[in-house]
Amino acid sequence: MAFSLIKMEGFRNFSKVSWNPHEHMNIIVGDNGSGKSSVLEALGFLCRGKSFRTSHTASVIAHGMQDFVVFGQSSEHRIGIRRNSDSFDIKIDSENVTALSRLAVLSPVQIVHPADMELLLGSPAERRSYVDWGAFYHNSDFFYHWSSFRRALKQRNAYLKMPVKSDMLDVIDAEFVEHSEKLNQYRQHFTEDISDTVVAIVSDFLPGYDFEFQLYPGWDIRKGLLQLLKSSAERDRMQGFTCYGPQRADLRILINRQPVQDILSRGQLKLLLCAMRLAQSTFYEKKCRKDCLFFLDDFASELDQDKREKLADYLFSLSGQVFITAIDEKETKFFQKSPCSVFELKDNLINQR
Ligand SMILES: Nc1ncnc2c1ncn2[C@@H]1O[C@H](COP(=O)(O)OP(=O)(O)OP(=O)(O)O)[C@@H](O)[C@H]1O
Ligand SMILES: [Mg+2]
Repeated sequence: MAFSLIKMEGFRNFSKVSWNPHEHMNIIVGDNGSGKSSVLEALGFLCRGKSFRTSHTASVIAHGMQDFVVFGQSSEHRIGIRRNSDSFDIKIDSENVTALSRLAVLSPVQIVHPADMELLLGSPAERRSYVDWGAFYHNSDFFYHWSSFRRALKQRNAYLKMPVKSDMLDVIDAEFVEHSEKLNQYRQHFTEDISDTVVAIVSDFLPGYDFEFQLYPGWDIRKGLLQLLKSSAERDRMQGFTCYGPQRADLRILINRQPVQDILSRGQLKLLLCAMRLAQSTFYEKKCRKDCLFFLDDFASELDQDKREKLADYLFSLSGQVFITAIDEKETKFFQKSPCSVFELKDNLINQR
């Protein structure tokens, strides 16, 4: 899906703007504080129904306004989001919608923004959600096993806190192990699948580094999960939670067996992050035979000319609609050799060049 019209009202520094994006490549330029990230945040609401920056949705309502409205139109759909201090309404083609997943299905998106670096530097939960996103599309059974596993984990942790022991733990453990093993299998399949693509892209950006992607399942596979649950039951009871299982999985990204974050510079980490998001987009396009939108905030920062040019070429190779932001239009010169639209943000307005 590609947006052909976007309207934003009462959204951060925009009181009322309307613009017509290019069907493929869009470059948004403006000074610090002009609203570049806010434009991507508004687009993110249309694709995910939430902000990629804050969980306090009401804080994006422009100061002095009662609500914000974001509206997006493509050749197939019309999406509207309205948020005021106590209600949040989503409409798709005039139908009221409550499930955010409806938006995600219509317009899947990959978003690279400064805080997205948490995928590499943050907790394993960030990388688990990267893997689970793909495993969901990789295997139609994934969601069933993922939700059954979550339920078994919740039951087990609740049981561990009970003062009286019973054979119930054996029943819960059997369920826990069945879904954990499936979940791990699906995560492994996706990791093997995507890592080849990520390595191909990142090796183009950063030749000479030997990248390796390993999925740590959350337990020692050689020992067997059931055995580990039994031997750690007393410790789990004392701690009140389960210490082995897919809830502890991590995607380990290594260079010469060392974590990438200990080796790569900031700019190099940004390129790895872009490679991981580009690979997700390509994977989605291949698997689901549908386009994926791609947002990249602050395209040029931390990248030299050669890397900017390479990254621009990869962004052009995507079939979905792309939005990038930059402070200076000169930073985006590599985009201007192919069809694209440039929008300048000034005085809280959006003007097409
Ligand atoms: N609720 C709000 N109401 C009005 N203005 C707001 C609100 N929240 C933030 N702003 C302002 O919106 C402006 C745009 O912020 P934004 O982060 O989008 O800028 P930017 O162009 O991405 O800047 P940078 O280049 O520094 O990343 C800022 O000046 C900010 O102070
Ligand atoms: Mg910004």
